[in-house]
Amino acid sequence: MVKICGIGAGYVGGPTMAVIALKCPSIEVAVVDISHSRISAWNSDQLPIYEPGLEEVVKECRGKNLLFSTDVEKHVSEAEIVFLSVNTPTKARGLGAGKAADLTYWESAARMIADVSQSNKIIVEKSTVPVRTAEAIEKILAHNSKGINYQILSNPEFLSEGTAIQDLLNPDRVLIGGKESPEGQKAIQALKDIYAQWVQEDKIITTNLWSAELSKLADNAFLAQRISSINAMSALCEATGAEVSQVSLALSKNTKIGSKFLNASVGFGGSCFQKDILNLVYICEGNGLSEVANYWKQVINVNDYQKNRFVKRVISSMFNTVSGKKIAVLGFAFKKDTSDTRKTPAIDVCKGLLGDEARLSIYDPRVTEDQIQRDLSTNNVEWDHPIHLHPLNPTMVKQVSIVRDAYEATKDAHGICILTEWDEFKTLDYQKIYDDMQKPAFIFDGRNILNVGKLREIGFIVYSIGKPLDSWLKPEGHAYSGVMDIIP
Ligand code: NAI
Repeated sequence: MVKICGIGAGYVGGPTMAVIALKCPSIEVAVVDISHSRISAWNSDQLPIYEPGLEEVVKECRGKNLLFSTDVEKHVSEAEIVFLSVNTPTKARGLGAGKAADLTYWESAARMIADVSQSNKIIVEKSTVPVRTAEAIEKILAHNSKGINYQILSNPEFLSEGTAIQDLLNPDRVLIGGKESPEGQKAIQALKDIYAQWVQEDKIITTNLWSAELSKLADNAFLAQRISSINAMSALCEATGAEVSQVSLALSKNTKIGSKFLNASVGFGGSCFQKDILNLVYICEGNGLSEVANYWKQVINVNDYQKNRFVKRVISSMFNTVSGKKIAVLGFAFKKDTSDTRKTPAIDVCKGLLGDEARLSIYDPRVTEDQIQRDLSTNNVEWDHPIHLHPLNPTMVKQVSIVRDAYEATKDAHGICILTEWDEFKTLDYQKIYDDMQKPAFIFDGRNILNVGKLREIGFIVYSIGKPLDSWLKPEGHAYSGVMDIIP
């Protein structure tokens, strides 16, 4: 049996390796991680991440050709192909802090591979890395090669959290970058043979290493740029009386533009978009391309602006203060169908509201209380716009309660903020919620999932991003003066 090993049992490594095991019964797949708690969760009924369909795939293969282990060295040394899916966060300190990718985990994994290997291996970069990282890994491996031949491939992962299993089972494309040498081409073919078990050949694209590495950064930058573009339009819609969903519809019918990623919202989140754009910006700056760097930076600036604008809107609508008022926050994950809160806009919005001394009652169907408390009390590392240099003071964190359903969160609240587009928020009994709230009752829909007309009929004062404003809410800048940058 061919043995492969996936290093890193996170949001990418776990689902990706599980789907390979499902589709390739003749391959033995070991997923390894240095985190004992993560591995024991993968071996339990309570998987460490939530993804629709993941549990079924893991249950089908675990104990047959899929195993999860902390014995990293053993499984790496036995494998013919090693997939690297370790985390590559933004660097927190030192050269390039706040922008460059932190390759500490990456490098230590590469050194470990070099130490324990006794046979030739194909090393597959799955993590998102700066362009020319394959060269760096090759240097580390070559330095300790003991005569072993390594072929490095770049095979960036394009799955989206929330639809990871579907994306893996039916990808738009699989990208494999490798060397043009005969050995490089042989390695590309070996990886192609794995994907070809379930992916049509014409969807498997092969390129050189650098194109594959850059394509992943470019992919995330383009997607985030679409969100910032429509969010920028949403501000203009509110100022002019246009409606952003109508503008989106008009754009989406242009086949040159298409319909995806055109929903205005409180802003994008997730572990990848911001980090990968910053990484791209850093690479551009390093190559003397300051105009290009500034262009991409603007995508993040608009995202920050959108979160800030939302907080200002909440405060200015509620008589210019939320001090002591109960605000229900519905949704904390960065998008629906995931438990992931990394870089979720909810963190910035909650911190902004806490900065104006609101009392928050937060409900999310999948995010644990511990996670929310950790997210709100941790200091973020930011790039060159340090909005969260200071952690919230402990009394502010005490103003947060995390509750188990939307009705408890909204009871006696002055306002509601919808921050994640969970389906269950569309079908709540808003009449009951209205009856149990303080009046006037405000609702701020940061995901544009609610029926504004119906809510207004019930009696709510409604703000929905990029939609014509309730007569209560004056266009931005004309409402109440004095609300400056309230995110602490
Ligand atoms: P994650 O943080 O969920 O998982 C990474 C795992 O690697 C952790 O469990 C960590 O303990 C483990 N690890 C770190 N160093 C290790 C070592 N030396 N040996 C063994 N295990 C080690 O990260 P996630 O979200 O899975 O991302 C991984 C990579 O994939 C990143 O580069 C990310 O940019 C990229 N990516 C992420 C996507 C996402 O939606 N989360 C989508 C596509 C790519």
